[in-house]
Order: sequence, then C-alpha cells, then structure tokens
Amino acid sequence: MKRADLSTVEIAYVGRGAGRPVLLVHGFPLHHEMWAAQIEALASKSRVIAPDLRSFGQSTFGDADPQHGISMERYADDLSELLDAIGVREPITLVGFSMGGYVAWQFVGKNGERFCAVVECDTKAAEVNDEAREIRLLMSENIHEWGSARVADTLSPKFFAKKTGEARPEVVAAVRRMIESASPDAIAAAQRGMAARADATSLLPQIKVPALLIGGAEDVISPPDEMRSIAAAMPNAGFVEIPDAGHMAPMENRNAVNDALLQFLANAK
Ligand code: MLT
Repeated sequence: MKRADLSTVEIAYVGRGAGRPVLLVHGFPLHHEMWAAQIEALASKSRVIAPDLRSFGQSTFGDADPQHGISMERYADDLSELLDAIGVREPITLVGFSMGGYVAWQFVGKNGERFCAVVECDTKAAEVNDEAREIRLLMSENIHEWGSARVADTLSPKFFAKKTGEARPEVVAAVRRMIESASPDAIAAAQRGMAARADATSLLPQIKVPALLIGGAEDVISPPDEMRSIAAAMPNAGFVEIPDAGHMAPMENRNAVNDALLQFLANAK
C-alpha cells in the first residue's frame, strides 16, 4: 500500500491504474480489501484510489479521540486532503459503500466541484433513528470488553445473503478477518461518528451529476426499497439491484457489481 502523510493523520491507500480517478470508500468496520474485485476490474480503465479510512486497516488514528468519535465529515475531509496530497485535481467518481456512503454524502455536500459522478452502494441517506443510535453507543462503550470478534459475530448474520455462507465461504471468512483486525478504538470512534450522523436526504435533489445506487437484493441493513427511494430523490440517478447478494454485495456478487460500475463509468463520460 502507498501512504500519504496528511496534516493530522497518515492515510494508507491502494492506487492503481491510470485515467479518470475513481475513489472507493469502504464500510464499517472494514478496510480497502473489501474492494479487491472492483480495484482489479476498474484499474484497466481508471485511476483507482482505495484508502483505508482513518483508524482502519493500515491508516493511523492521527489526532482523533475515540471518546469523541470520528464524524463522517472528518473522514470526508481526510479524503479531500488525500486527493490533494496525491495530486488528483480533476473531478472524481466517488463510490461509497455503507458507512463509506455516509462519508460520501458529506464529501458531496462540501466539495461541489470535486466530483463528476457518484455511486452509493448498500447505504442510507436518512438520519440514524433513536434505537440504532443507542445500539451504536452501546457498542462503543463496551467494545474494549467485547473485542472485535463479538462485533463480527453480531454483524455477520446481517451482512450476507442466505446462500452466501454455503456458496462463498471465503467471502464470509474475509469479512470476518477484516472486522477482527479493526481495533476497539477504531470501532468505538466510528460508531460514535455514525451515532451522530446527519440526515443527507435534503442533499439528494441537489446532486445533479450522474449517480448510481447499487444494492444487494437481500440486504437487510439497507434494503433495496430504501436504495430505490434514494435514487428516486436524485435528479440523475439509477438503481441496480444485485442478485444473490446481501449487504456485502461488492464481495458477494462481484461480477454483477463490477458490470454495473463499468457500465456506469462508460455512460457517465
Ligand atoms: C457498514 O457496512 O458500513 C455498516 O453496516 C454501516 C452501519 O453500521 O450503518
């Protein structure tokens, strides 16, 4: 991985290929490896940048304080600074998955001139509700005692389509490895950030660039109907439902996700 020494954090990232830049933003509590198949597929035509968000994977915590959490805006600001640091000046295609999608909304809200297309994958735009907020805060308060293995146990049943465990055990194992590699501080900080996540729905009508919503047909975290209504609220967006996939669509059905992305990138030229 490459490294960029930013003003308050060191961000590790994969940089592959050449051409129009595509920034892939991973979900919680994962890292860039969730995009392995997309990095491979897109790098023949694009400059692909897949960072580890602050505190995840090989990126450092920097000056963040786990007790206060890391806001979605803060992660987005890191991405903007990363693009400056590695000399990306032209508008990017921004691809966010789940928590990476929440970060992408923040990036979009603050960097109107910096992107020319947006892909949101298995994510939400509406504000976090009270019940979800409490669950997030409970995890952040107890994670040091629980350990990340318990987080993997909690999340795994919600992450995959019914058949993925049998048909793609290597995907389930890879996701578990990523979750278990996340530090308790990283998990606590991100959960606190997500507990305070702002509503992005008022932003949707303002996103005039080409946009694509992608969602696993069996995603119970960001169900297809919710993804469809996000697309409907955006002036220039389509929705592609990914068969044989739950929340982890980019890994569970990588070919379908890659096809959707490649077609979108070709049309969004
Ligand atoms: C993710 O995959 O990033 C998480 O499911 C996001 C969340 O907890 O809302």
